[in-house]
Amino acid sequence: MSILVGIETSCDETGIAVVKDGSQVLANVVSSQIDTHRLFGGVVPEIASRMHTEIISQLMKEALCEAGLPSNGKCPGIDGIAATFGPGLMGSLLVGLGFARAAACAWEIPFLPIHHIEGHLFSAFLGEKRPDFPYLALIVSGGHTQIIQCDTPHNYQILASTRDDAVGECFDKVARLLGLPYPGGPSIQEAAKTGSDTAYALPRGLSKKDTLDFSYSGLKTAVLYLLREKPDAPVPDVAASFQRAAVDALMLKTARAIKQSDIHRLVIAGGVAANKCLRESAERLDAELFLPPFVYCVDNGAMIAAAAHSRIEHNCSLPYDTPATASIPLSGIS
Ligand SMILES: Nc1ncnc2c1ncn2[C@@H]1O[C@H](COP(=O)(O)OP(=O)(O)OP(=O)(O)O)[C@@H](O)[C@H]1O
Ligand SMILES: [Mg+2]
Repeated sequence: MSILVGIETSCDETGIAVVKDGSQVLANVVSSQIDTHRLFGGVVPEIASRMHTEIISQLMKEALCEAGLPSNGKCPGIDGIAATFGPGLMGSLLVGLGFARAAACAWEIPFLPIHHIEGHLFSAFLGEKRPDFPYLALIVSGGHTQIIQCDTPHNYQILASTRDDAVGECFDKVARLLGLPYPGGPSIQEAAKTGSDTAYALPRGLSKKDTLDFSYSGLKTAVLYLLREKPDAPVPDVAASFQRAAVDALMLKTARAIKQSDIHRLVIAGGVAANKCLRESAERLDAELFLPPFVYCVDNGAMIAAAAHSRIEHNCSLPYDTPATASIPLSGIS
């Protein structure tokens, strides 16, 4: 049996979780800064790192209490502590990484640095079901849109990436154009409920090109021009048409990747994996699906602990002194 604490501070959520044996979540506390950053229409890095610093000790106590572990400053009887080392905002990463490394040092337990996207990938395994190898992973988040092939544990081959905006970023930017609140994904999903997804014809990025790569800047620009031309276009119709186009582009390239690789197991993870239209559309793909529970789609500490458990299990933990890194592909740590 192993009990790990996972800490996530790569962007605007401070997440701390206690996870048993890589999948049983004993505690998961997340302090979101969204209400603060909403005032600016997006994340302000300096504010984000300060807010992580202010809350992290208190959040650790809360997580340990929720898990039924002692929180008196002494080692709470855990087997290791994991934290995101990158990619993300440098100031925010340093808060979680420094805090976790110091606690591990004081408590004389292993410290495990984890890649944020590997964390997202493992959020899909925070339940009972795990795919056999090989499998594909569609990562859809605020900063990433990728198709990854995983043939053996912790070996990642990136088959496709976005050439410009990430799909989550596109949801956020289009929501702003529509006057909907940040973060844009949930706002657009809500607005789209009463709209028609065939009201406006919007582009599916790179659909006609012989590549698995994605492109979302054209879709964002198309919405901008549509709103300039038709300022009175009903928001629900634009939101639904946009959501359909964004999801169609994901499905098109993922279906192609499944066919080309002949791999029929698919993980979908990252904040946009919470999107209901995406989840329903993915059911029609020729693959067995592995989806994270809704609560673990956006950034959290549980996914970081789950990834760390697997790295320990496969004897491939990253060096404890791995530095905070703002930008590093998942393939760079295999
Ligand atoms: N229901 C939803 N539908 C569509 N998008 C969503 C939904 N819920 C959240 N999102 C989007 O998910 C993104 C946040 O996801 P996540 O926290 O994984 O991103 P991030 O951590 O900022 O980026 P990365 O993981 O690439 O570093 C935001 O862009 C948000 O709009
Ligand atoms: Mg994330």
